[in-house]
Amino acid sequence: MKHSATFSDLATGPQARAVRPLPEPALTYFPDVRSAPSDRDLTAGAAPTSPSAAMVDDEPHIPVLLDRCVELLAPALTRTSTDGSGATLVDATLGAGGHSERFLTQFPALRLIGLDRDPDALQIAGDRLARFGDRVTLVRTRYDGIAAAVAESNCAATGVDAILFDLGVSSMQLDRVERGFAYSVDAPLDMRMDSGSDLTAAQVLNTYDEKALARVLRVYGEEKFAGRIAAQIVRRRANTPFSTTGELVELLYQAIPAPARRTGGHPAKRTFQALRIEVNAELESLRLAIPAALEVLRPHGRIAVMAYQSLEDRIVKTEFAAATASRTPPGLPVELPGHGPRFVALTRGAERADAEEIERNPRSAPVRLRALEKVGGQ
Ligand SMILES: C[S@@+](CC[C@H](N)C(=O)[O-])C[C@H]1O[C@@H](n2cnc3c(N)ncnc32)[C@H](O)[C@@H]1O
Repeated sequence: MKHSATFSDLATGPQARAVRPLPEPALTYFPDVRSAPSDRDLTAGAAPTSPSAAMVDDEPHIPVLLDRCVELLAPALTRTSTDGSGATLVDATLGAGGHSERFLTQFPALRLIGLDRDPDALQIAGDRLARFGDRVTLVRTRYDGIAAAVAESNCAATGVDAILFDLGVSSMQLDRVERGFAYSVDAPLDMRMDSGSDLTAAQVLNTYDEKALARVLRVYGEEKFAGRIAAQIVRRRANTPFSTTGELVELLYQAIPAPARRTGGHPAKRTFQALRIEVNAELESLRLAIPAALEVLRPHGRIAVMAYQSLEDRIVKTEFAAATASRTPPGLPVELPGHGPRFVALTRGAERADAEEIERNPRSAPVRLRALEKVGGQ
């Protein structure tokens, strides 16, 4: 990876100057950085003109398990007609619109309701899906607002036919360095998926007490050095509050013991994941969203959820287990009428990406896909 220029060499505006690759020692120390500037970005000669143009990697987001998602949801979308007439799909995590584009293309009469909390994602997906005209409705909302979004689209009475969740951050969010999601580049400590929300990663680091910080890192990052990192954060901010990702990476360099740094993946990954989850209330949103999504599905409707880390997958697994369990009180010899499971599982446990997909798209490596169908008459 070449780092022969910095963003400040290219930048023209104050926003563009706010991001720069981390200095060499940190990059050497964190050898598996994913989002460092590509040669192409740095030698293209075009200076970023706006914060959103300051990207470290211009690879588009590659949709994960795309064929399998279509295969799982298609039966619910083609009950009336193979072209998807009369059917509605909710893409609860629209992102760059990759999954949605495939569904809209494959089922030329399908209607789509696309949700995202990130206005940039809605803008990008909106442009990408513009050719599908009024078959597409985009809604800026957290996905736990799914019931209201469906109601606004006049589908509340009948329910929707299928729902897709592709959780986490998109490549676009990771690659737009000024948003502070990537640990390989020095940028403002932001990490908000929704630029209109209040809490930033800098505020978490600068205002949470030591105990609360340690809890965030331990629970959301599964970071075993949470206490030690939290103590060092509190000590450092007493002199200088945190403002950039580079300052945090530098602290992690000091705080994580040397032997642990060389094993268990990128040492900043867990802390960055924890902050992102806290800033965006990701788990709370998902805990509310899954039951709400199950509720708005019509009978024989289907839902597929892709999770990329264990905390999210655990929530999906728990909610799906409850939905597929019998509601007949334990101990009764027969199922009570109306008390059978509300859903049946379409996947055996969680499905993974195969080696070929992981080779083509490394971001698919951690995926866990689970899917259900709503039982008729529910
Ligand atoms: C992995 S990307 C989806 C990529 C998409 N499937 C594609 O093919 O382009 C996840 C998207 O979900 C959005 N997101 C994450 N948490 C959300 C939430 N609680 N509510 C709404 N959108 C959310 C993110 O902003 C991001 O754009």
